[in-house]
Amino acid sequence: MTEFRYELLATDGKARLGRIHTAHGVIDTPAFMPVGTAATVKGMLPENVADTGAQILLGNTYHLMLRPGAERIARLGGLHKFMNWDKPILTDSGGYQVMSLSKLRKITEDGVTFKSHIDGRKFALSPERSMEIQHLLGSTITMAFDECTPFPATEQQAAESMRMSMRWAKRSKDAFVEREGYALYGIQQGSVFENLRRESSEKLAELDLPGHSVGGLAVGEGQQIMFDTLDFCVDMLPANKPRYLMGVGKPSDLVGAVMRGIDQFDCVLPTRSGRNAQAFTHRGTLNLKNGRHRDDDRPLDDQCNCPACTKYSRAYLHHLIKAGEILGAVLLTWHNLAYYQDLMRGMRDAIAQRRMEQFARDFYAGQEGGDI
Ligand code: GUN
Ligand code: ZN
Repeated sequence: MTEFRYELLATDGKARLGRIHTAHGVIDTPAFMPVGTAATVKGMLPENVADTGAQILLGNTYHLMLRPGAERIARLGGLHKFMNWDKPILTDSGGYQVMSLSKLRKITEDGVTFKSHIDGRKFALSPERSMEIQHLLGSTITMAFDECTPFPATEQQAAESMRMSMRWAKRSKDAFVEREGYALYGIQQGSVFENLRRESSEKLAELDLPGHSVGGLAVGEGQQIMFDTLDFCVDMLPANKPRYLMGVGKPSDLVGAVMRGIDQFDCVLPTRSGRNAQAFTHRGTLNLKNGRHRDDDRPLDDQCNCPACTKYSRAYLHHLIKAGEILGAVLLTWHNLAYYQDLMRGMRDAIAQRRMEQFARDFYAGQEGGDI
């Protein structure tokens, strides 16, 4: 069996090249984790997600507990077998999704009760139940149960929210069933306040968990404030363990966050945008709904070797989208995932060769179509 372990291979400024070893295989970092909320990366076969270079997926406690249920997935052999993905899976702990999706939520020190956004049935989540669900799923990386502090928050609101998340982190650790090659990550909170991020990191350090994430960002504060916060909060987390920025982001966010020391990311953007006709390319973003692509025989991205780019034209992709054909969403999702993995690979190579600054300059200069 493999021990869960983070190997730091090279640094360039604050950027880190590394490798995470897990029970389900290795993750080269900086890594982007495609989102497979409901035990599927929407529109993609898992083997094709792996073909893009993804080495780990994200799943969601919240969605899977509602449907089809964690106990059912456990009876069926766990999430890996259920969805036919044998590489690592990280699951989010549920609190964040409860707050953004469910109805009639009630938060107390014990946890949260809520009504399902699907059928209104009542459910409860707590640190203990979240750990139990993620264990039933067989998650490689379990996330501590936390509250994502909304933005903006006063310092006092952010402090109270963060301190509850830290008490929940301790309860998460106590309830987590340790297994070789599996890990529990703590989540740093504290909104944009340096003293609170520090206090959160100190509380997490007492738990000595194998990895950490930065939570409570990308919640409407904008890229500049997010970067300003990352400038101090990432260094507060131990350098010998992975650091994961939750729910981020667009390509320029990933480049900026890697330069500030982040190793892991997840975001619905490449998959959700793909279903919405938006493509990320080496020259910026394109909306394939736009009529200007109607007669365009060129590939979507001439630097990409995904099927959408090597076998089809922009005109064909535009046609599929205008006609409401499923294949349009499939091909754009595929391309966006391939683009994100290419971007991560490019950053890993740049860090290895100590040219991350130049990589970032070239990246920003290349985005002539503009950012989103
Ligand atoms: N996803 C994006 N932000 C967060 C966060 O702060 N906490 C959790 N659990 N998930 C997130
Ligand atoms: Zn492509």
